[in-house]
Amino acid sequence: MLYLNNKLVTEKKALISVFDHGFLYGDGIYETLRAYKGAVFMIDEHIERLFRSASMIGLVLPKGHDGIKEAVYQTMKANGHKEAYVRITISRGPGPLGLDPALCPQPTFVIISKEFMDYPRSYYQKGVNIAIVNTRRNYKKALDPKIKSLNFLNNILAKRESIDRGAYEAIMLNHNGHVAEGTISNIFFVKDNILCTPATGVGILDGITRRIILDAARELGIKVKEGRFRPEDLYNADEVFISNTTMEVMPVSGVDDKKTPLKFTITRQLHKAYRKKVAEYIKG
Ligand code: PDD
Repeated sequence: MLYLNNKLVTEKKALISVFDHGFLYGDGIYETLRAYKGAVFMIDEHIERLFRSASMIGLVLPKGHDGIKEAVYQTMKANGHKEAYVRITISRGPGPLGLDPALCPQPTFVIISKEFMDYPRSYYQKGVNIAIVNTRRNYKKALDPKIKSLNFLNNILAKRESIDRGAYEAIMLNHNGHVAEGTISNIFFVKDNILCTPATGVGILDGITRRIILDAARELGIKVKEGRFRPEDLYNADEVFISNTTMEVMPVSGVDDKKTPLKFTITRQLHKAYRKKVAEYIKG
């Protein structure tokens, strides 16, 4: 079952108009959430970010914070999901052709809940490889990556490059050549026991997993540096990992053709701390 506008419907009946501006223009926003043992981790933070994205594109959400939360749990419950991947999608809605958002008085509101499929264990044991691609991350004064937008071509073009190069994730630089983020993930590296990650000002999504990792690192007494970094910093790093809501902390085994093997020591420590925070959240 899926949640479409105000009700639960079967997948077959979950149909939207070809005039939906999400389809026509990529006009909309989304969030990806993960549920553990029936509890949606950091649900309030995800909904808050959804509201922030909405406000940045001038979209009035059809429900309030609590209404969205309730709809998420209703959708999971209807499917009997406890370990779930949940996606909230809100588009501008159907309207005549044309860009003016006022053409669409009613946003389309969708919640999809899928049984969570674990990533292969080998990804965590051996790490995944990443490629620094030629496609630059959207310039923040053009389309701010802070908006978790349905307009995903920037990321898809980057992804195509990483696929061609046999890499698991593509890392994009910003317009100045600073390391920004992956197509669906944030990036971190460790150098001389300092945990480094691009500052949000570089033009990235302010990842919720990223925030938790930074907090966990500080609690563990690991020095943290949010800044502006170059590809060479990744090539010369001791450890590299990527993060998002579904993959949590994913170790990176290689960056482009860099030969020296990466270590996973602090990466593993942080993943453990992340897992602990998830466990505490579920208990609460
Ligand atoms: N992606 N950067 C980008 C471009 C992303 O799309 C995502 C999340 C992240 C990490 O954000 P978070 O830690 O809040 O999940 C960073 C989700 C998982 C997706 O696209 O489905």
